[in-house]
Amino acid sequence: MRLRLRDERDEVVVLDKLTYAGRRENLQDFESDPRFSFLHGAIEDPVAVAAAMDGVDAVLNFAAETHVDRSILEPDAFVRTHALGTFVLLEAARERGVRFVQISTDEVYGSIAEGSFTESSPLDPSSPYSATKAGADLLVSSYRHTYATETLICRGSNNYGPYQYPEKLIPLMVLNALAGDRLPVYGDGQNVRNWLFVEDFATGIGHVLEHGVPGETYNIGGPDECANIDVVRRILELCGRDESLIDHVTDRPGHDRRYSLASEKVASLGWSASTRFDDGLERTVAWYRDNPWWWEPIRSGAYREYYQRQYGRSLERPAP
Ligand code: DAU
Repeated sequence: MRLRLRDERDEVVVLDKLTYAGRRENLQDFESDPRFSFLHGAIEDPVAVAAAMDGVDAVLNFAAETHVDRSILEPDAFVRTHALGTFVLLEAARERGVRFVQISTDEVYGSIAEGSFTESSPLDPSSPYSATKAGADLLVSSYRHTYATETLICRGSNNYGPYQYPEKLIPLMVLNALAGDRLPVYGDGQNVRNWLFVEDFATGIGHVLEHGVPGETYNIGGPDECANIDVVRRILELCGRDESLIDHVTDRPGHDRRYSLASEKVASLGWSASTRFDDGLERTVAWYRDNPWWWEPIRSGAYREYYQRQYGRSLERPAP
């Protein structure tokens, strides 16, 4: 949305429930832009959805419960948002003949030891998060087959960059490193992710919105893969800290070992990622370092309780 308002002449309506990770502060750059409007509401509420969809040409469903660890602790919100919410949006798109883009994830394919998943790889999700995202993808496809709704699906790999809530690996580790707190690495740290800078995902979704073939799915993967422990080491280096802050903690139950996407299909629409992981990570660390106004309120209050519950310890500096 940030890029579309800056680089295109789009008008954008944001419908957001503003749960724990949704923050009005993320939108403050556009609040006075006449091409932007904000509605506070849930995608599973047909009244809110009808208000948001009034007069639009396309709907992009970014709304999701995204965090795998939270889906293991409390799966109900994931079923509600991904199943019911996607259904309500699809119904509204069908009634209005509006193009519908579902923002999905590489996790619907499950883990892959070698090689990369293509769009025709079987779905094999392993957490309540990815299973409900896979269910939503199937529902989206059914609206193409059954009602001829103009649906498209974008499956992205691990995003990182500014404004990411610090429960995800990269912002969590950056903020802990800047503060001199412990960096909790799950298991042996050898799990591999395919890192995609957020602006590259945004331009990929824009390509699919404009040039994608209705009914098709497009993988949008990052240019580089990296094991978690190497991501963490690089962050420590960028923050001027040493590896004594690394804390190997109990592994995530059912932890997927490796994700990897083949993105030739979206490349054939003219898209490619422009940010390599090393550069994107450096930019991301700089953004968090320069914007404490954004993360300081998060690292206090409810977030500290979540951290205690998740890692079984407090968010504090290790004893010297
Ligand atoms: O692959 C795309 C997916 O990436 C998205 O669909 C999800 O919404 C998003 O949450 C993300 O899922 P991951 O589980 O891969 O991301 P997360 O940042 O939670 O974890 C990345 C890796 O780092 C994973 O192997 C688990 C590990 N990890 C994570 C945290 C939060 C740790 O070792 N320690 C941590 O404290």
